[in-house]
Amino acid sequence: MDPRNRVVIITGASSGIGAATARCFAAAGARLVLAARSAEALAQMAAALPQAIAVPADVADPAACHRLVEQAVAAYGQVDILINNAGIGLTGPVTSLARADLERVLAVDLLGPIWLTQAVVPVMRAAGRGQIINVSSVLAVQPLPYLGGYAAAKAALEQISNALRIELHGSGIAVTVVRPGTTRTGFNQRRLGSGRERRRIAPPGVPPEAVARAILRAARTEPRLAYVSWADRLALLVGRLAPGLVEAVLARAFGWEEQQSPANKQ
Ligand SMILES: NC(=O)c1ccc[n+]([C@@H]2O[C@H](COP(=O)([O-])OP(=O)(O)OC[C@H]3O[C@@H](n4cnc5c(N)ncnc54)[C@H](OP(=O)(O)O)[C@@H]3O)[C@@H](O)[C@H]2O)c1
Repeated sequence: MDPRNRVVIITGASSGIGAATARCFAAAGARLVLAARSAEALAQMAAALPQAIAVPADVADPAACHRLVEQAVAAYGQVDILINNAGIGLTGPVTSLARADLERVLAVDLLGPIWLTQAVVPVMRAAGRGQIINVSSVLAVQPLPYLGGYAAAKAALEQISNALRIELHGSGIAVTVVRPGTTRTGFNQRRLGSGRERRRIAPPGVPPEAVARAILRAARTEPRLAYVSWADRLALLVGRLAPGLVEAVLARAFGWEEQQSPANKQ
C-alpha cells in the first residue's frame, strides 16, 4: 500500500536500517511509531521527523509488544504496517553457543516479531487491511560458519512468515519477508557471542538507506519476498546450484584462522 498517511510501526528504529527506514517512510508521508530500547535515541529520531512518536520497548517482552501496539492505536487509531526490524546478531561455533546468548537472539529476532504480530493482527483484521514486513537476512538461506545461531533465528522467522501469510489469506493483510545482505551498520559491533570475524569474506555491504528503499518498495508492492540487491540473489542462487562447492569455499575461508591459531601450530 502507499504509505502516505498510513500508520507504520518500525522496531529497531534507533539506529542502522530501522533509522534509515524511519526517514524513508517519513519522506513518503507515513505516520510513524518508532520502537527500540534506547529511549533517548528514539526521542531524537521522532523529534526530527514530521509525524512520529517514540515508544521505548524491548521486543523480547510480550507485554511490551502489546503495549507498543496499544500506544500506536491510541495515538493514531490504527496500524497499517508493522515492520519487524529490531534484531541482534550472534557469533560462535554451534558446538559452543552459550545458552543465554542463543535464547536472547531467539527472543529478539524470532519471538519479538511473533508477539508483535499477535498484537497487531486483530487491529489489522478489524480494518480489513494491513501488512507485516519481517526483516530477515540472506543468512536464513545460506548460513555462514559461526553465524549458525543467528541464521537459525532468521530461517525460523521466514517460515513463521510463510505460515502466517497462508493463515491470513483473504484477510487483506499481506506478509512480506525482506532479505538483506551485508549492510553497513553497527550491527556486527553489537552482536552477542564470541568468534571469528566474517569480514574476511563478507562483501563490503550496502548502506542502510538501500535496505530502507527496498522496504519502502516492499510496502508499496506487497511481495512475498524482497531482496535489496541482485548480488544477494545471485549469491543465494550459486549456493543452491552448487552447495558443495560453496560449503568448501566457506570452510576454507573460515578455517584459515583456526590453522593459524597458536594451539594448532605446535
Ligand atoms: N547489518 C547487516 O549486515 C544486516 C544484514 C541482514 C539483516 N540485518 C537485519 O537488519 C535488522 C536491523 O539491523 P541493523 O543492521 O540496522 O543493526 P543495528 O544498527 O544494530 O540496529 C538494531 C536495532 O534493533 C534494536 N534492538 C535490538 N534489540 C532490541 C530489543 N530487544 N528490543 C527492541 N529493539 C531492539 C536496536 O535498538 P536498541 O539497542 O536501542 O534496542 C537497534 O535500533 C536486524 O533484524 C538484522 O538482523 C542486518
